[in-house]
Amino acid sequence: MALLAPSILSADFADLGNDIRKTVEAGADWIHVDVMDGLFVPSISFGMPVIKSIRKTTDKPFDVHLMIEEPIRYIQEFKEAGADILTVHVEACKDTMATIGEIKKAGMKPALSIKPQTPVSEIEEYLPCIDMILVMSVEPGFGGQKLIPETVDKVRELRRIIDQKGLDILIEIDGGINLENVRDIVDAGTDVIVAGSAVFGSDVAGRTKAFADLIRH
Ligand code: DX5
Ligand code: ZN
Repeated sequence: MALLAPSILSADFADLGNDIRKTVEAGADWIHVDVMDGLFVPSISFGMPVIKSIRKTTDKPFDVHLMIEEPIRYIQEFKEAGADILTVHVEACKDTMATIGEIKKAGMKPALSIKPQTPVSEIEEYLPCIDMILVMSVEPGFGGQKLIPETVDKVRELRRIIDQKGLDILIEIDGGINLENVRDIVDAGTDVIVAGSAVFGSDVAGRTKAFADLIRH
């Protein structure tokens, strides 16, 4: 049993509100919002004004994935824009612990993400302080890439550590998830599934529902 967080990076930006409503009505649990700065990753996506305006379309939690350098600079602004869960990359923070502390202070749930080449050991010390760990299953920066299979081993490793230590942390995976591989990913111990290109495009409602049905048991 896992939650579904469609990534709006692959949605129709000219009709974003409607695309979001369609996924919510078809069973999306969270909305995954990818913010890119052109530095931490090569591309630039969108920022606070877009998040603020789509905030009116649904009450579902906004799972905001920051692919930006030194995210500590913008924490309050993302809170005001409507973020509920704020994910930062360990590779992008000069002081990861301080960044986690600021996210909590602003009233959001802190999450940490690791790129495909970053080992779990890099974030182990932070596990007791965060609500979620986001395992990137592609190099961050673009939708529509192919999942790197070795990253699923990190989900298994994290599942073991979290269960052993009795921690209350969700494991989320992001990148290259589709209707064919999602069941194996859930079975590896994932709690939250992000899917962009496999949800948006054509038949958003039908594809959301197909995902939701597959991960609900
Ligand atoms: C990539 C983003 C993802 C992206 C996933 O850097 O973090 O959330 O939208 O897209 P798909 O599901 O198409 O791989
Ligand atoms: Zn993402």
